[in-house]
Amino acid sequence: AVDISCLRNETGYITYDPGYANTGSCSSSITFVDGENGILRYRGYPIEDLAAHATFIETAYLLIFGELPTRAERQELRDILSEQELLHEGLRHHFEGFPSNGHPMAILSAVVNALGPYHPDLLEITSKEDFLRAAAKIISKVRTIAAWAFRKAQGLPFVYPDPKLSYCRNFLHMMHSIPYKQFEPTDAQVRALSLFFLLHADHEQNCSCSTVRMVQSTEANLFASVSAGICALWGRLHGGANAGVIEMLQNIHDGDLSIQECLERVKKKEFRLMGFGHRIYKSFDPRAKILRQAAHDMLASTGNDDPLLDIALELADAAMSDEYFTERKLYPNVDFYSGIILRALGIPVNMFPVMFAIGRMPGWIAHWNEANMDEAGRIHRPRQIYTGNKPRKYIPLDSRL
Ligand code: ACO
Repeated sequence: AVDISCLRNETGYITYDPGYANTGSCSSSITFVDGENGILRYRGYPIEDLAAHATFIETAYLLIFGELPTRAERQELRDILSEQELLHEGLRHHFEGFPSNGHPMAILSAVVNALGPYHPDLLEITSKEDFLRAAAKIISKVRTIAAWAFRKAQGLPFVYPDPKLSYCRNFLHMMHSIPYKQFEPTDAQVRALSLFFLLHADHEQNCSCSTVRMVQSTEANLFASVSAGICALWGRLHGGANAGVIEMLQNIHDGDLSIQECLERVKKKEFRLMGFGHRIYKSFDPRAKILRQAAHDMLASTGNDDPLLDIALELADAAMSDEYFTERKLYPNVDFYSGIILRALGIPVNMFPVMFAIGRMPGWIAHWNEANMDEAGRIHRPRQIYTGNKPRKYIPLDSRL
């Protein structure tokens, strides 16, 4: 538990809430989370219903515009996404400037930000039409940028998007097709990818979403704001956690440490159990429940087995029957099982946070727009408790020891 206190700083009393664990920074009508009861709803719809019935693109529309699309609206969005899937040829040169082992998250954030200068008419958004165009550009192009960042790292030629393909199929085509042989994923793989994106599409005021809103509060443009969100997502405690999970499961698989040793070392605070714990969820993460089942189903449908899934299940069971974890209300979060799905789709570990960023894009865009429309919005500017030196006299260079 983190203490919230009212502390005196240099100019008066302020609320001191490290990590903003109990501080509301805005009001929002996009996503509802009840961490005690494991409830997550997008615009009022339970995540379980959306996961069972909706696609990622329908969910993106819901988050951004507030309602599920009609058939015509869904088709309109699909058409715009197909129209927008190519990158300006000038943007290709940006990829060439990166070293081949450059992290795809660095490439993603830089190139998404670089979309701004290629679309100067959308740097200031004043109408619903402009917003739809900007949102569709980002949601569509982010998948091309992500796939090209991967191809660049592999030293493979870029694969251009194919407008005949659906959003997820097109992404897998750009990732995995080779000259003269189009990659053809199974329906189960496409569905699993859509589900992965859908479950990551928004999660209210987490670090990356709050970053997007904070950058927006300076009246920064949409491209720059979501690019900042990508950077915030990168770290191991946020979007980098699922890569950490796979690394940990792989170490157990390779015999570097046993499940019990892993838990003992976590208890000694040598490292954290990746994919466990959540700032808000204190009984279970509903997304983890859905992904656990999805990982099973997908592996069963492809006839493949992943020994890491068995280790994950055993590790989760061992942790959830251990007082250390139950006392602290630590349960598997969305990242615990998502890496298994990504591995089965042939996505390498350094692309995991990129995949999260593609999924989270509709949420960031919806939050940016909500903040942009809020006439009472103010620049975000937290305070601090100053703990440095008292006033002192400047020491001339020759007198310094
Ligand atoms: N493994 C072991 N112990 C943990 C873990 C963990 N994964 N998470 C929290 N704890 C312990 C802390 O050591 C602390 O114990 P203490 O009271 O003995 O000091 C207690 O639980 C509370 O921890 P906090 O750091 O205060 O929890 P906070 O809410 O700040 O952190 C977070 C949440 C960052 C998600 C944390 O649980 C964590 O680091 N998890 C691992 C990384 C991870 O899976 N991140 C993905 C989050 S979901 C997402 O971004 C989509």
